[in-house]
Amino acid sequence: MSINFQDRVVIVTGAGSGLGRQHALSFAARGAKVVVNDFGGNRDGTGGSSEAALAVVEEIRKSGGIAIANGANVTDVLEVKALVEQTVGEFGRVDVLVNNAGILRDKSFSKLELQDFAAVVNVHLQGSVNCTKAVWDIMRKQEYGRIVMTASAAGLYGNFGQANYGAAKAAVIGLMNVLHQEGFKSNIRINTVAPMATTRMTEDLLPPAAKQALVPERVTPAVLFLSSEDAPSKMILSAGGGAFAAAAVMETAPVYIPDTDLSPEYIAQQIGKIADWTTAVRYENADQEIKRFLELVLSAR
Ligand code: NAI
Repeated sequence: MSINFQDRVVIVTGAGSGLGRQHALSFAARGAKVVVNDFGGNRDGTGGSSEAALAVVEEIRKSGGIAIANGANVTDVLEVKALVEQTVGEFGRVDVLVNNAGILRDKSFSKLELQDFAAVVNVHLQGSVNCTKAVWDIMRKQEYGRIVMTASAAGLYGNFGQANYGAAKAAVIGLMNVLHQEGFKSNIRINTVAPMATTRMTEDLLPPAAKQALVPERVTPAVLFLSSEDAPSKMILSAGGGAFAAAAVMETAPVYIPDTDLSPEYIAQQIGKIADWTTAVRYENADQEIKRFLELVLSAR
């Protein structure tokens, strides 16, 4: 099976550097018409220029690929609207959206200003919402769409000093879970990558050996797979250094406690059984979980 993006139109946000740049180059190398979006700011989201996106477009064109640059800030609804209008005006459709743009403002929670919390959530979560909303009806009408969210181990598992970032990264998974339900009938598939890579975002955090191993090129194949025609949907792939793993929310089998025993003390006593991970399953949707609870509760009462 070969994966190509011939005649597919792909928007990659935050594609002026790091992972996004590599995604854009790789989509173009496989035939996509790529919209390289980047507002060209600093790592903390300040500043901005269109040079970063233009440089990547230049690179793609030099290798014979097709690309245009866009300098929208993904937090600005009007600029995002213009990004999608530019894409459709130039290429006629939008097949793939990779929500990759991101910033960092790390601080332990006690030192974190609320405005730094809001700024990070605004780029990662609201930016992904803005871009997804702007392409959603186009994808629904054309009955084809592939969307990739970018999460992080900080959101899946927690990381000291990243309350803002971790919260925003976990939130895009919730967004994926719901949009998977709503988009599937229109052939919109939506997945999440949780990358590890040496970029300006992580260069001062990684030891030298890790830096060399974790080049963005070793993450991008996961993004191409997750946005391909035969992509899964609602999948989370962790990817770094050429290693890949699937992550998921799992839940243990429900344990019923009759009213006669119902108390926090009884839960404490039963917690080993309640949190017995050997019984864990994945639910396809919230309904499945509710049904399972109701079956147990109604049969026990
Ligand atoms: P990066 O800093 O090299 O790239 C992020 C790009 O997003 C920059 O070019 C920046 O200008 C752009 N950007 C930021 N805010 C924007 C906005 N409001 N509108 C448009 N563009 C904007 O960082 P990197 O590492 O390539 O990050 C890419 C994505 O991967 C981010 O979502 C990041 O949170 C995520 N990630 C990266 C990890 C890593 O190990 N590098 C780990 C986990 C997640």
